[in-house]
Amino acid sequence: MSLRQPALRTDADEHLAALCKAGGDPLRLNVLRALASDSFGVLELAQIFAMRQSGISHHLKVLAQAGLVATRREGNAIFYRRALAQGEQTGGALHAALLAEVDALQLPDAVQTRIAAVQAQRSAAARDFFARTLEKFRAQQDLIAGLAQYRDSLLTLLDALHFPPGATALEVGPGDGAFLPELARRFAAVTALDTSPAMLELARQRCAEEGLDNVELKLADALRDPQPAADCVVLNMVLHHFSDPAAAMARLARLVRPGGSLLLTELCSHHQAWAREACGDVWLGFDQDELAHWAQAAGLNLGESLYIGLRNGFQIQVRHFARPERLPPLAV
Ligand SMILES: C[S@@+](CC[C@H](N)C(=O)[O-])C[C@H]1O[C@@H](n2cnc3c(N)ncnc32)[C@H](O)[C@@H]1O
Repeated sequence: MSLRQPALRTDADEHLAALCKAGGDPLRLNVLRALASDSFGVLELAQIFAMRQSGISHHLKVLAQAGLVATRREGNAIFYRRALAQGEQTGGALHAALLAEVDALQLPDAVQTRIAAVQAQRSAAARDFFARTLEKFRAQQDLIAGLAQYRDSLLTLLDALHFPPGATALEVGPGDGAFLPELARRFAAVTALDTSPAMLELARQRCAEEGLDNVELKLADALRDPQPAADCVVLNMVLHHFSDPAAAMARLARLVRPGGSLLLTELCSHHQAWAREACGDVWLGFDQDELAHWAQAAGLNLGESLYIGLRNGFQIQVRHFARPERLPPLAV
């Protein structure tokens, strides 16, 4: 009687085995934990886990082969983020359970400190960029999409929301403050948060020139510094500067009062890589469905959207997302 071994290497077997292998290492579990609420490049992860780039790359490859992390290339950098579990497919339940268990892990203090250092480096790089390019700022913005091109559409969406008298607005990343006069006319009080002192100075000059006495300008990071919520949060051409836009949406949703709105203007996905150098963009616009998916994952409801095609080939999306009474808990 011949004892032939059954074929064990089906795709499903391979996938489950890859998942088990990927989960069978404390360092990889900690990498997954670190990616719970941010995405990081290879060099950043090497810094966070105090390893050589080749060492961390090996672990990332194992995680990617198991489908536990996904990558997105931005210029020369590759950012890693956690991949969502595919519920119905083989390994989907194990993947989801593994991430849930990982979320209960406590990252070592040294790792948490280095994550904070990496995030501080990113903020400093963004501040430097806006400080260095201050004079060219308006020209560079207008190279792609200036307020003039989307102001009317944005105001159409804003005015259709009929905020009551006494409602408040918060603008994240007002830049030189060009949209603040519109907000100041429509809301009882407006707060504008920007991480760039140089941009805030331009916004301050504009508020002074226009005599806007209901606008408060604050030097603050909208993703990290606690802020009181507002009825309407506005974000024009800012999301593409955030390293993890999905996590940013979850944070921004919390700046909106229950029943309030998030209005977001962004570029649609494009392939003009020069925008990174010229305008400091981290992301080359966003796919419309992707943005809707992140908003829904943040607990927001989809409202109206307007799309504006520009002569230079870019397309702008102006999106409204509504905040319900309750939001899902934040992945910390
Ligand atoms: C491309 S500019 C857009 C300015 C303006 N909204 C416009 O459309 O002209 C991005 C602005 O976001 C600010 N910014 C970037 N990250 C931020 C953060 N985490 N919190 C607050 N402001 C931020 C930058 O300093 C800059 O002023």
